[in-house]
Amino acid sequence: MSDGKKGGGFYITTPIYYVNDVPHIGHAYTTIACDALARWHRMMGDSTRFLTGTDEHGQKIQQAAEKRGMTPIQLCDEVVVNIRRLWPLLEISNDDFIRTTEERHAKVVRHFFKTLLDKGDIYKGNYEGWYCLPCEAYFPDAQTGEAKTCPDCGRPLSRMSEESYFFRLSDYQEKLIRHYEEHPDAIMPKARYNEVMSFIRGGLQDLSVSRTTLKWGIPVPGDDRHVVYVWLDALINYASAVGYPESGGLWETYWPDVRHMVGKDIIRFHAVIWPAILMAMGMNPPVRVFAHGWWTVEGEKMSKSKGNVVDPFEMIEVYGADAFRYFLLREVPFGNDGDFSELGMAHRVNSDLANDLGNLLNRTLQMIEKYRGGRLPDGACLLRAREIDRAVAQAARQIIDRMDRDMDDFALDSALKTLWTLISSGNKYIDETAPWKLGKPGNDPDERLDIVLRTLWEVLRLTAIILYPFMPATAGRIWEQLGLKAEAPDIGAVKLPDWEWGRGNDAIDVKKGEVLFPRIDMPKWVEEKALRDAAKKPGAEMAESGPGGAPDAKKFSQIEIEDFKKLEIRVARIERVETIEKAAKLYKLHVDLGSEKRVIVSGIREHFKEEDLVGKKILVLCNLKPAKFRGIESNGMLLAAEAEDDGKEIISLATVSGDFPAGSLIS
Ligand code: MSP
Repeated sequence: MSDGKKGGGFYITTPIYYVNDVPHIGHAYTTIACDALARWHRMMGDSTRFLTGTDEHGQKIQQAAEKRGMTPIQLCDEVVVNIRRLWPLLEISNDDFIRTTEERHAKVVRHFFKTLLDKGDIYKGNYEGWYCLPCEAYFPDAQTGEAKTCPDCGRPLSRMSEESYFFRLSDYQEKLIRHYEEHPDAIMPKARYNEVMSFIRGGLQDLSVSRTTLKWGIPVPGDDRHVVYVWLDALINYASAVGYPESGGLWETYWPDVRHMVGKDIIRFHAVIWPAILMAMGMNPPVRVFAHGWWTVEGEKMSKSKGNVVDPFEMIEVYGADAFRYFLLREVPFGNDGDFSELGMAHRVNSDLANDLGNLLNRTLQMIEKYRGGRLPDGACLLRAREIDRAVAQAARQIIDRMDRDMDDFALDSALKTLWTLISSGNKYIDETAPWKLGKPGNDPDERLDIVLRTLWEVLRLTAIILYPFMPATAGRIWEQLGLKAEAPDIGAVKLPDWEWGRGNDAIDVKKGEVLFPRIDMPKWVEEKALRDAAKKPGAEMAESGPGGAPDAKKFSQIEIEDFKKLEIRVARIERVETIEKAAKLYKLHVDLGSEKRVIVSGIREHFKEEDLVGKKILVLCNLKPAKFRGIESNGMLLAAEAEDDGKEIISLATVSGDFPAGSLIS
């Protein structure tokens, strides 16, 4: 087995995502983390493969499809598009994308099942347990309580027995313990290792690996009354995607180096069931299963009903993919749980990205342009570097090794911290060497300035290379501004082991470009966030499809009439329209509601002229909690239809026909 070091192999996988959900921060997190690792290993010269995909069979999908009046495959085909289009937006560099509904996968599942059946590791038996007929699910004794009622719907459960195939998991208890004792790094972090070990030591029972209660799955070979249990089906994706067991298939190269990244909730499937199945197949168990923690949002569990699901599409639109990637990987020690707060992200953009990184680049390029007309001083000057300059070079060399060790341990946050010590040392070096003093004619010899500028440029060149796995687009922009694009157009193709401090004496012209991360203006940010939050509230379901996602009536959850009655929607007459200073999108509308007058701040300025609005009768949601925009309290929200026409957002205000009195209630 390779240790995944330079020139070795590195096969990394994400869990395959269910298609009954829209992609959220959890999916983005795992995939971004794997992407950073894959990019790092490619840069190290390792033979790297990065896999992701979708988990498309099973009860959840069948039920979700039924609810929407579709066949399961129609649902899968529709939802997979949403997941697939997210990855390029997040700069994910996966080499393959597997769907469990593909034939290349199904045939490998059949192969696994048949092999294990032939070997006696799978046998036919009876599954007995407490079953809820309406929910069509078994529940473990521990969840059924004394009354034996369904933990989901509360109805009485029936004792049922059903024919099932079983995998002899119990036979693998000792083998797994021995394997993990010999490979303590095979489950990380340590706390998860201990948790899994104590679970295994607690005793393993044979596992039911087929179902007769549903149709949406891969039929068991030779017995199509059964379909293969969705988790067995899903886990096999890691092997089917690399062409197991074809001779000459990719798996021959990559399987010995497979590493699975998962969330902590699915560690047992990956660190107990899957290695046992692989052992039974005579295959190597994974080199490592790493379980990362879970994100809460502003201190709360993320849930659709709370409407606090973090939408990666929105984060990309507001902050850009790189800032989002940076925040997720830097904010929380990888492996721990974390709390997502947009405020925290905005602060990090300002401090780490705009200040530390942005300033280092700006100041350096500005000085090279000002003092050297944009031409980089020749690397030969570094031969006469002083102690202070050599210390920076020395620290830079050590940083690569430290980051490599962090990346080996999947300590992504720590790798980024290490990288930032390089950036900080660059900024400190500017302050200490004060190049603007050297730049003054008649001061120090000219060569001193050359050395300082070249040293800074070297710090930035290395920064770009080692930043690339985490923030690929930003690294590319730095690369370009440093003038390196002409000789190496693709920073991603640079191999870190080839890197040398001060190499090459070629004439390079730097080219200061746009600021990498403009500072976020916090007061403005607060107002814009309030607008975004308000926009999400009434149509929370719309947010599910992400920006640009088509609204789909079938997808809306149903509400009771009582829910609708909570809305107080009235006819209002617009009396006066004011613009708001420095708010290009907002109008301050003075409306008459019959019995009272109100002010409503609305983001429709780009769509209507003031004179088109005055006198118009519109519909207003009156009992929405007041909110402040640009310091103005808005009391209500006007209703409007939104659509896209030729890529442009169009809006039509909801109104009533005829001369209806202001204040009339809509019911
Ligand atoms: N289909 C299975 C995996 C099969 S792998 C052979 C599955 N899919 S999932 O879509 O429900 O979840 C995918 C991943 O998202 C899991 O690793 C899960 O831990 C992760 N997350 C879901 N919510 C999360 C957070 N709030 N925070 C971080 N990750 C979370 O499970």
